[in-house]
Amino acid sequence: MRTFIAVTPPAQVAAQLDALVRDLARFDADVRWSAGASIHVTLKFLGEVSSELLPELVAALRQRVRLSAPFDLELQDLGGFPSLRSPRVLWCGLAGHQRLSELQSEVEGICTGFGYEPEQRPFRPHLTLGRVRGKRNLQPLVEHLASAPPSLHGKFTVDHVDVYRSTLRRTGAVYDVLEAIALEGER
Ligand code: 2AM
Repeated sequence: MRTFIAVTPPAQVAAQLDALVRDLARFDADVRWSAGASIHVTLKFLGEVSSELLPELVAALRQRVRLSAPFDLELQDLGGFPSLRSPRVLWCGLAGHQRLSELQSEVEGICTGFGYEPEQRPFRPHLTLGRVRGKRNLQPLVEHLASAPPSLHGKFTVDHVDVYRSTLRRTGAVYDVLEAIALEGER
């Protein structure tokens, strides 16, 4: 099972991001836009996990993650990898992500303890909004984002971490939450 661990924003934040994505889609650029409900912050991409190992991994995550207290995050500006001027991925950044970074390194540590490859790249917390497929109408879209950056004002509480299954389809990956792990520590 292709699996990853992520933080999922609540429905009202997902709806705000969905509205933004639908607005940007009017440029008809060659971008595979994320659907609001599937937008998440990846903490760890695992790739294939056997169905035998998964319950063990989830139990280990649960044991540690439940000790963490819920914390707040806030939507920030739009950005691009490698840059907003010439993006392959368009994303929404997050303010106040110190606790998220700590959570990510905890999750990373547990997963590497199970033999998963450690991530080499530094953690850049983001919500992927779209993946650029080609150059069609990309320039007008990028110019719009530079000249009239969308203002996003979503503050939300992170009180659980989700373990996702990703199923690759011709039309893009489909994500399903397999397990939700609550952050039960005192604030
Ligand atoms: P992204 O949002 O930055 O593209 C499911 O594929 C999720 O895992 C995506 O959100 C993706 O992050 C993330 N991910 C991280 N490393 C990955 C990899 N090597 N292959 C596929 N997805 C990866």
